[in-house]
Amino acid sequence: MSEPQARYLGPSVPMAPPGPLSKVFLDTQEHLESNARTYPRRLPIAVKRAQGCYIEDVDGNVYLDFLSGAGVLSLGHNHPELMTAAADQLGVLVHGLDLPTPVKDEFTRRQLAMLPEPMRSAMKLHFCGPTGANAVEAAIKLAKITTRRGGIVSFQGGFHGSTAGAMAVTGNVAAKERVPDGMPGVHFFPYSYCLRCPLGLRRHDCAVNCITYLEKSLADSHSGMTRPAAVIMELIQGEGGTVVAEPEFVARVREVTRLHDVLLIIDEVQTGCGRTGTWFAFEQYGIEPDIVVASKGLSGIGLPVAVLLYDRRLDTWPPGAHIGTFRGNQLAFATGVAALEVIERDQVLANVTRQGELLGGLLAELAARSPWIAQVRGLGLIWGVELAHPDTGRPATALASAVQQAALRNGLILEVGGRDDCVLRLLPPLTTDSDQITAAVAALASAFAEADADFHPSAT
Ligand SMILES: Cc1ncc(COP(=O)(O)O)c(C=O)c1O
Repeated sequence: MSEPQARYLGPSVPMAPPGPLSKVFLDTQEHLESNARTYPRRLPIAVKRAQGCYIEDVDGNVYLDFLSGAGVLSLGHNHPELMTAAADQLGVLVHGLDLPTPVKDEFTRRQLAMLPEPMRSAMKLHFCGPTGANAVEAAIKLAKITTRRGGIVSFQGGFHGSTAGAMAVTGNVAAKERVPDGMPGVHFFPYSYCLRCPLGLRRHDCAVNCITYLEKSLADSHSGMTRPAAVIMELIQGEGGTVVAEPEFVARVREVTRLHDVLLIIDEVQTGCGRTGTWFAFEQYGIEPDIVVASKGLSGIGLPVAVLLYDRRLDTWPPGAHIGTFRGNQLAFATGVAALEVIERDQVLANVTRQGELLGGLLAELAARSPWIAQVRGLGLIWGVELAHPDTGRPATALASAVQQAALRNGLILEVGGRDDCVLRLLPPLTTDSDQITAAVAALASAFAEADADFHPSAT
């Protein structure tokens, strides 16, 4: 008999993590699994089960999950209606290659219908291998095949995945240095990260000079760069530290790519599926991309699926141009359809906007009390809190790590990221309510109070 579903009333951490049972699992994992594993190093728990916005570890600790599977669990863990949809589909068909099926047909229609007009009728969908990185590879491939050009422009600080092509367009230098001879032809341009202006300027809101550099390079007959196939960008650099692009920057990227007939790929793997309060973040920037990459939140419950949405006029690639065995996850399609029904019925996107405003406001209050918080930024339910030394402005990496550990002890799971790992990242489920937001920020405030004591400006 299966266990009854857990019901949690709030976070509770009686046993400092890692508790003894977690430790056994972590030790075994270290022995049996790859050294390249990541999350357990910063979040040292073994998970027993989860429900909604909560995770329970094997020692009985319950945490508010403000990481939500790296932004995957848009409706939280084990949403009951999505579980029913998956269970019903389980007895019908699980794996369908890329053959049409009723549930896939419904998923495809519903996903295209989430695009704003006039894109809705102009776009087609391609099912990729079931990860964001695979869909990024597909987007690059489609752009190169269509334009017959090899170059790709990407932005400093961006993250697009860990496969060869996706890593080539990712900013993280250390990750690339470990794997020589990556995909050639990638040109990096500065992104509107105004707090740490990529051009070293002091203004915190200009967002103009960095885009001028791309504009001039595309127009300059001596820039050294042949016309690229595409520009790929995130509208909020998630792994890059929740850096929200300035609207003028984005508008001008769209303008200059149109002017030079360069395709614009918007990577919505992290920002899509309602994360920012609209289905796609690009809607809030008033632009129409040529290719959109979506993955994480598509199934609503963490089942893997990834797609490209692209303008029909780009549908030039031949049969089999981007194949992959696992492109027909019928369970993900079933839960994806159910998720859209729940999102519409329960007005989840309005909740994202409302809770995002609450979260942003509470974080701003926290920032007003802590000199170590250099900036709070976000949109909808993707937020980042960048920490820097109050006097020197240097990245406060050690403090960010200490706050993350103290938050865990206080019952809050969050991630750190960005350059120097000095940004606290919050990505709660889209269904998170005000009580949970308030509880999370209270846990974060306590974590700051604990960690801050060791990081007094005068002491460092
Ligand atoms: C913007 C963006 N693109 C691509 C990816 C890669 O997705 P995956 O880890 O599913 O390959 C990620 C993952 O975090 C992402 O945030």
